[in-house]
Amino acid sequence: MIMIPVRDEKAIECMRKCNKALGVMLDELSEMIRPGITTYQLNLEAEKLISKLGGRPNFKNYEGYPASICASVNDEVVHGIPSQKRVLKEGDIISIDAGIEMNGYHSDAARTFGVGSISPECAQLIKSTRSAFFAAMKAAVSGGRLYDISNAVAAYIEETESDYGIIRELTGHGIGRKLHENPMIPNYHKKTKGPRLSKGNTLAVEPMITMGRPDIEILDDDWTVVTSDGSWAAHYENTILITDGYPEILSLGEKEKELGLE
Ligand code: MF3
Ligand code: CO
Repeated sequence: MIMIPVRDEKAIECMRKCNKALGVMLDELSEMIRPGITTYQLNLEAEKLISKLGGRPNFKNYEGYPASICASVNDEVVHGIPSQKRVLKEGDIISIDAGIEMNGYHSDAARTFGVGSISPECAQLIKSTRSAFFAAMKAAVSGGRLYDISNAVAAYIEETESDYGIIRELTGHGIGRKLHENPMIPNYHKKTKGPRLSKGNTLAVEPMITMGRPDIEILDDDWTVVTSDGSWAAHYENTILITDGYPEILSLGEKEKELGLE
């Protein structure tokens, strides 16, 4: 059984810092989302904000990824590449996923936003995906088990929105000196318990939920993940620090916090 790395106080301070910047960046970027803007413009603005905050966009060139954020619209689940051709329109939903590196430490977070006014069904998808994350936070405590987090995400969706799909091929992950570290954190039920959670673990928990089936495909750009059935998808992710009690949600900006922790 693997041991999840425990960060010392100095590393934790670094994780707090780069994640706080990410929370601010996502809050500010969200203000720009409106009909008529391109995902290319959002990427440019994110780069400006990240450099103003003193960080580096850690997605850029990650395994060859060509941009600083992922901007995934409607049936795109994750890893949508920003493009001048992708003009947002009223009623779209867009998932923005980003990360910032500072002093060798990494942050990673994602939220799905509505463009202008969206359908009640889309609003519910976004809300439930966010709530699945917060349901999982109750299980993310020192002394608990990693897959308690996975089971909590799955149980929340099954109990509240049984017709939704939970993506299985993509998972959350450890995060720290690298953007992606072990362990993987699935969003579906596991029969085993997984490694024990300890104070000082830093993890990225990220439910990815569809309004239809959970099956996905990758487009010819080799990055964009879309649903096979064309159903729309939402993504919600934060980098967290395990403590003895409720986890510290490191990448939660003020605006995002105001939406509540449920
Ligand atoms: N947040 C994304 C994930 O955990 C990171 C994507 S990095 C990219 O999968 F560079 F590939 F976009
Ligand atoms: Co991630």
